[in-house]
Amino acid sequence: MDTIYDLLDSKHLEFLEDVLHGLSQQQKSIPSKWFYDEAGSHLFEDITRTREYYPTRVETRLLHQVSEEIGQFTKQLNVLIEPGSGASLKTRILFESSLNIDTYIPVDISEAFLHRNALQLQKDFPRIRTIPLVGDFTKSLPPLGLGAHDKKLLFFPGSTVGNFSPIEARSLLRSFNHLVGQGGWLLIGVDSTQDREQLLAAYNDIQGITAEFNKNLLKRANRELRANFDLERFSHEARYNEDDHLIEMHLVSDCEQTVTLGGKVFGFAAGETIFTESCYKYPTQDFLAMADDSGWRMEHAWMDDLESRFQIFLLRAKPG
Ligand code: AVJ
Repeated sequence: MDTIYDLLDSKHLEFLEDVLHGLSQQQKSIPSKWFYDEAGSHLFEDITRTREYYPTRVETRLLHQVSEEIGQFTKQLNVLIEPGSGASLKTRILFESSLNIDTYIPVDISEAFLHRNALQLQKDFPRIRTIPLVGDFTKSLPPLGLGAHDKKLLFFPGSTVGNFSPIEARSLLRSFNHLVGQGGWLLIGVDSTQDREQLLAAYNDIQGITAEFNKNLLKRANRELRANFDLERFSHEARYNEDDHLIEMHLVSDCEQTVTLGGKVFGFAAGETIFTESCYKYPTQDFLAMADDSGWRMEHAWMDDLESRFQIFLLRAKPG
């Protein structure tokens, strides 16, 4: 008889391994990158349109305000690389103001979503060559096929850096540094908001879209890994850990239950959780210290002054 292992392709196998490993830990967990299948990518776009989820609204407004200035700083750069590009909505703001980008490389784990958005972007901005790259940007990327004359700007908006712990964030920032090389730049959005109520609301919107996004992980595991999570018996929860400046997303087991997956049985106590996402809200100085350690020098910073402590940093790779 075929086992689950015979039925899965390599991407599903990786998902299976991550889930099996995560559920075997003392604190059960599933890596947040698995949120982003087709449905998850759309649910995230829906989250960004909720009233409570301020980061996208704030960063978009800020980008509109400062994109001309960013264009002035980055005139000499012609390649834009975006890890975790999603719907590339903020990228459009840059394209409209920075005239010298001739090549755009969006990188995303959600394949169909990536290709659809890349095609639309290529139509809307015919002078910019768009080369989508399917992949997990936390792993090494395939060669980008760029020449020695290409000067790279890495775009990492959304405070996605917050999905990484301080140790992981340092190594990510270092890998970005290697990716852009000498003369390369990084434009990065970082949310340093510390307001407890505001944060908890942003990760637990009243319409329940974040809850659906979180639970989509279980739905996906049921579909792709033939797991049998009962979606009615898990609830979404967002917690704020003030000391670590960290929002944690969990799926709480509402009762004592078992779940079968990949030939294994996992027991859940009532109230036990699966930890699904970290969203660090790094204080400005902490972020800049990590960036400095990872080979970046700050060139300019812009800060939201209306509803949060969201900021956009323009960093340059330090020589040597
Ligand atoms: C896409 C990683 C920036 O951490 O705020 C939104 C994902 N999770 N609501 C974030 C997310 C729950 C988002 N990032």
